[in-house]
Amino acid sequence: MKLKTAVLLAAMVMIAFISAGGQQDQKRLDPAAWGENHAGKPIPEYLTGDECLFCHRNDIGPTWPKNAHGKTVRPREVDAGMAEALEKEPSLKAVASEVEYFLGSRNHVRLLKKAGYGKFALLNARAMLGSDGHIQKWSDAEKPVWDKERFADRCAGCHTTAVDAAAKTFRAFGLDCYTCHGNVTLDHTENTSLVWLSKKRRRDAKAITSICAQCHIRNGKSRSTGLPYPNNFIAGDNLFQDFEVDFSKADDRDLNAGDRHILRNVRDVALSGSDYPTCITCHDVHGPSSVKHRRAPRTQICADCHNAEGSLKEIKRYSVKSPLCEY
Ligand code: HEC
Ligand code: HEC
Ligand code: HEC
Ligand code: HEC
Ligand code: HEC
Ligand code: HEC
Repeated sequence: MKLKTAVLLAAMVMIAFISAGGQQDQKRLDPAAWGENHAGKPIPEYLTGDECLFCHRNDIGPTWPKNAHGKTVRPREVDAGMAEALEKEPSLKAVASEVEYFLGSRNHVRLLKKAGYGKFALLNARAMLGSDGHIQKWSDAEKPVWDKERFADRCAGCHTTAVDAAAKTFRAFGLDCYTCHGNVTLDHTENTSLVWLSKKRRRDAKAITSICAQCHIRNGKSRSTGLPYPNNFIAGDNLFQDFEVDFSKADDRDLNAGDRHILRNVRDVALSGSDYPTCITCHDVHGPSSVKHRRAPRTQICADCHNAEGSLKEIKRYSVKSPLCEY
């Protein structure tokens, strides 16, 4: 009898636990409720990456030149391989010498040239890279045309640093330390908890998720500007006060797993109040990107890329595509 009661009790506790979990999925928080934002306010005079790297040359310096964030936009001179491939492409002969910067480094590349202060013109031609990092094929290269507005209107906020959303100009090309660590002051050398993402300040799931989501959500829109990127987001801000996101896409099986697991994770944190896992439970930005994800507890997010049950050795194939990034 006693044993039966115990079993019954255990079963009831389990049912209560499961339904609480179910309810938690349905409970919806207002994602804009906490914190503040800097939409429309002036951009601060932040420390630049060169200044940071003067002191952080031994810890961060060695890997930074290879980091996808830092080099998402890079001058032609630092990428000899790409420059050579560009010069070899017959259809781009007329414009090749005008190209000053490359955009994208892992699977897709676009071509840029300066177009006034803090602006780039974007060439319509697109290159696709193979797994060896070399150009596999060009698209839209037959009639190369420069577009002077497109980069500012559609791309700047996530591929350059400190964009003034009114003028649509950037302070620096590529993604500087400021985009993730925020407006760091020299006081942090005495007290590292002043810097976002320092060892002492990486547990605030909502704020950290806002930091990564400012760029990694590619179906959002700023309420104040209508642009597809945030208005003057500074690390520590609540992204969702000014950035509108369609979270229902997280359930869309047609969305590629690369973008879907991000949307799911952001939704879990921003709408359901989950504080684990976050992007940085699974990703190292300055280290080997996703090795540590293997140790995260198995939940629904795993099923975006692995089978819901059984061996985790099986990985569902997916290729990342984005109408916003035009690939
Ligand atoms: C004048 C030198 C100096 C400059 C400039 C500087 N830092 Fe630091 N930083 C330090 C020192 C010293 C520490 C504390 C010791 C340590 O952990 O390396 C530190 C710590 C940190 C930490 C925390 C490390 C941890 O262990 O948790 C982060 C993150 C950081 N700095 C980022 C930056 C960023 C981003 C910039 C530029 C915006 C920057 N630092 C500029 C010297 C500097
Ligand atoms: C300011 C915009 C921006 C922010 C903030 C940002 N990312 Fe990224 N991230 C990018 C862009 C752009 C790329 C692709 C760069 C390329 O290939 O040209 C990228 C690439 C990546 C990649 C794939 C490349 C790799 O190294 O494996 C990962 C993973 C990633 N980001 C994780 C994060 C995480 C985690 C955060 C938050 C701590 C974050 N990102 C914050 C814009 C951003
Ligand atoms: C809301 C932020 C955002 C905007 C706006 C944006 N991108 Fe991106 N872009 C990203 C992120 C994040 C990645 C990395 C995504 C990944 O690999 O999963 C990326 C990656 C890329 C890549 C590299 C992909 C690769 O795999 O090598 C190219 C090229 C690119 N974007 C071009 C563009 C162009 C062109 C525009 C404007 C027409 C644009 N993007 C607008 C966030 C953005
Ligand atoms: C895309 C977001 C992003 C950018 C850009 C970025 N960081 Fe970080 N940084 C992180 C995250 C996330 C961590 C936490 C550890 C990790 O993921 O590697 C971190 C950790 C650090 C640390 C502490 C390292 C430790 O031992 O834990 C330092 C120092 C640092 N970053 C400096 C810099 C400097 C300097 C730059 C610019 C050159 C920079 N970061 C650019 C996201 C970023
Ligand atoms: C449960 C662990 C986990 C969480 C949480 C997670 N990721 Fe990932 N993510 C992964 C793994 C694993 C990959 C695949 C890496 C690979 O292909 O080597 C990945 C891939 C990516 C990619 C690369 C897509 C591509 O192939 O171009 C980006 C960018 C990314 N994640 C960003 C994020 C951001 C931003 C967050 C937070 C909103 C996040 N991830 C949350 C595990 C996670
Ligand atoms: C965005 C896609 C993505 C997500 C989400 C993801 N994984 Fe993975 N997983 C991968 C990829 C790609 C690999 C192979 C490369 C690697 O190991 O990083 C992998 C490999 C693994 C491995 C090593 C398998 C082996 O070869 O032995 C384990 C274990 C694992 N994942 C567990 C998890 C767990 C647990 C979760 C959920 C918390 C998860 N993964 C979520 C993409 C993903």
